[in-house]
Amino acid sequence: MSVARYFDEMSYGPAPEADGEARAWLKRHEAGFGHFIGGGFVKPAGGQYFNAVDPATGAILGRVAQGDASDVDKAVAAARKAQGAWAKLPGHARARHLYALARAVQRHARLFAVIEALDNGKPIRETRDIDVPQVARHFYYHAGWAQLQASEFADHMPVGVVGQIIPWNFPLLMLAWKVAPALALGNTVVLKPAEFTSLTALLFAEISCAAGLPAGVLNVVTGDGSTGAALVGHEGVDKIAFTGSSEVGKLIREKTAGSGKSLTLELGGKSPFIVFDDADIDGAVEGVVDAIWFNQGQVCCAGSRLLVQEGIAEKFLSRLKRRMQNLRVGLPLDKAIDMGAIVAPVQLERIRSLVATGVAEGAELFQPDIDLPKGGCFYPPTLLTNVQTAATVAREEIFGPVLVSMTFRTPDEAVMLANNSRYGLSASVWSETIGLALDIAPKLQAGVVWINATNLFDASVGFGGYRESGYGREGGKEGAYEYLKPKAWSGRKPRIAAETPKEAESVAGFDLPALDRTAKLFIGGKQARPDGNYSRPVLSPKGVRLGEVGEGNRKDIRNAVAAARGAEGWSKATAHNRAQILYYLAENLSARAEEFAGRIAAMTGVTKAKAAAEVEAGIARLFSYGAWADKFEGSVHQPPLRGVALAMNEPIGVVGVVCPDEAPLLALISLTAPLIAMGNRVVLVPSERHPLAATDFYQILETSDVPAGVVNIVTGAAKDLTKTLAEHDDVDAVWVFGTKENAALAEKLSVGNLKRVLTDQGLVTDWFAPEAAEGPILLRHAVQVKNIWIPYGE
Ligand code: NAI
Repeated sequence: MSVARYFDEMSYGPAPEADGEARAWLKRHEAGFGHFIGGGFVKPAGGQYFNAVDPATGAILGRVAQGDASDVDKAVAAARKAQGAWAKLPGHARARHLYALARAVQRHARLFAVIEALDNGKPIRETRDIDVPQVARHFYYHAGWAQLQASEFADHMPVGVVGQIIPWNFPLLMLAWKVAPALALGNTVVLKPAEFTSLTALLFAEISCAAGLPAGVLNVVTGDGSTGAALVGHEGVDKIAFTGSSEVGKLIREKTAGSGKSLTLELGGKSPFIVFDDADIDGAVEGVVDAIWFNQGQVCCAGSRLLVQEGIAEKFLSRLKRRMQNLRVGLPLDKAIDMGAIVAPVQLERIRSLVATGVAEGAELFQPDIDLPKGGCFYPPTLLTNVQTAATVAREEIFGPVLVSMTFRTPDEAVMLANNSRYGLSASVWSETIGLALDIAPKLQAGVVWINATNLFDASVGFGGYRESGYGREGGKEGAYEYLKPKAWSGRKPRIAAETPKEAESVAGFDLPALDRTAKLFIGGKQARPDGNYSRPVLSPKGVRLGEVGEGNRKDIRNAVAAARGAEGWSKATAHNRAQILYYLAENLSARAEEFAGRIAAMTGVTKAKAAAEVEAGIARLFSYGAWADKFEGSVHQPPLRGVALAMNEPIGVVGVVCPDEAPLLALISLTAPLIAMGNRVVLVPSERHPLAATDFYQILETSDVPAGVVNIVTGAAKDLTKTLAEHDDVDAVWVFGTKENAALAEKLSVGNLKRVLTDQGLVTDWFAPEAAEGPILLRHAVQVKNIWIPYGE
């Protein structure tokens, strides 16, 4: 070939990365990798192995152990044994360990990068320049939280033993996202890598041992979904952190319900990539390349739905197609390729079949005329246009290099289309008008929003979803809390069910009777009769009938949820405005303090003084949330780029609250006030036994300018109403305090739309103790953090 021809074609020759060291490491483990438990490799109990395969060639790279329940048991025991000592180490000592891990990753950076590329099929350019440096950054960053733990998280303690289950798309990076914060904050770990990509986790485990990590602190059990299921079901695990498909995420939610395990889920997405007509078109085209062809599109936050403003759609799509023509698909170790192999034949088949469905449903297919390597799992960059919003490819996560495109006319329509998804992981907004971009960002239902950028990640910035993309954050201070629990909640005792009094017989005299006051439900700012037209008696501890309340049912909850949904204005009200209303509630409660105290004493049998103290504590608590309303603020993260990420505390939406029986007024206030302070709307089920404090409370709501629908009250049987709330798809979160059974029920039934669930697991909170029942301890559950990335400069 002549030099002149090279100039003419500008074609690339192959530029393969050397793989000698990686092959030597694989050779050393030729006999098969064991699980990494208690500081060393151990053979699988069942003696079963499966192959690790290079998806680019189909070649076998090694044999990996198939873990079973007894392997998981051994690993959990090792983690448990190490946990106490690990947590007791001074933060500085743990910081040194994490620092050593970061250093070790950097020392072996090339080995990690090559093995990751071989095992997963992703380009070495990405493993070398993105995955591995980010892994090191995660350990450095979290070494910092270990160092600062005693001062920054003084009122929190480690969760304990954490089971972590990760996917195959970023095998080593997902390990880092999970392992670094867990270890930094004093937890020990049993990690289950994805069956397609176990190798870098095993290499990391081996290297961590050489870096001096104590035995049992990090354990790796390999295997398929059944190994993951054994870890999820293990009683010795205190928390499960999962990243993967929505189906498995939902399964895990159901399986852990009622177990007391805490849970974070990072699931899929169908993230919008919104291009306004004033965007820098070439920049946005390059953004699309990064959004959907990075990692072959196997990215949970891939910008897989392109929304282009109609006026520029034709120009944009034609430039995009031209750019696609220049993408290079090749062998992962070739340093000059854009896209490597799909992780496995089953995934390739899934992509093919979804694209075929898309075409059958009317989409137009564009694939550039480029060469793919022969033999392995390769799929070309793909664009589907003429896609309808209801089409399968517009709704389902394809998890491959396939972009679907739609157009919009106005910013409102862009927001509507963007939010038209059950997911809510990320979004990317392209406009040169900063006012427009910053107006759109808060309106998007997504945990991460990138402005004029995409796929930016950093250890200092929380990552995680809204809606069915899961819950919990990874990274940033917001992510650190996921591996901690409040000290004030650790000593809570199981609630002992009080006996239900028998109704005493009463014979009325001929005195002037008290004027009957019928307590109704409170829905949409109005008192409402219960739909079923049934009432339930409210008895004193001695069985004296104090009154009756409505027996709320499914329809009442439905009406209350609709009212709460309609009160959206509250979520947009200023924090100052919400604060004023909380103070006003306190003021009006104070004016009727004596009456409320009388009610509490009559219902619960506590002394007048104790009842008065409960009302006073309620007033103070309302004041406290008036104070917090405009002070529980987000933060500005400073990732290593020219720009910032704004971590905004956003309301979750409509929250169902089920109150316990103890301290019926104070508990109600303690649970409702943080939610409304943060802009949520509430459907409140008051104490089943002592509901009259709540039905009196709606008069306070009525006189305190609380907009209609912000707080709705439905009295009745806690269990039935919990069930209805937890199953309701228009409820975004439930807080259930009361019996252990109700807590389990709420967790189990929340799975439909993956609502956030906070329960007390049947343990009694001391509502009078501010450290257990007031402030950030609850406010953190009343918000979801949205990180808005704003790079700047030309
Ligand atoms: P998956 O959700 O089955 O696998 C993720 C991890 O969960 C793996 O480690 C797997 O072994 C484990 N697992 C599977 N079943 C389990 C169970 N019952 N209990 C506990 N752990 C279990 O995902 P898969 O099958 O690899 O991919 C299927 C689809 O899921 C993809 O096409 C993609 O759409 C989506 N996905 C999304 C990811 C994300 O980051 N959002 C990551 C991986 C897959």
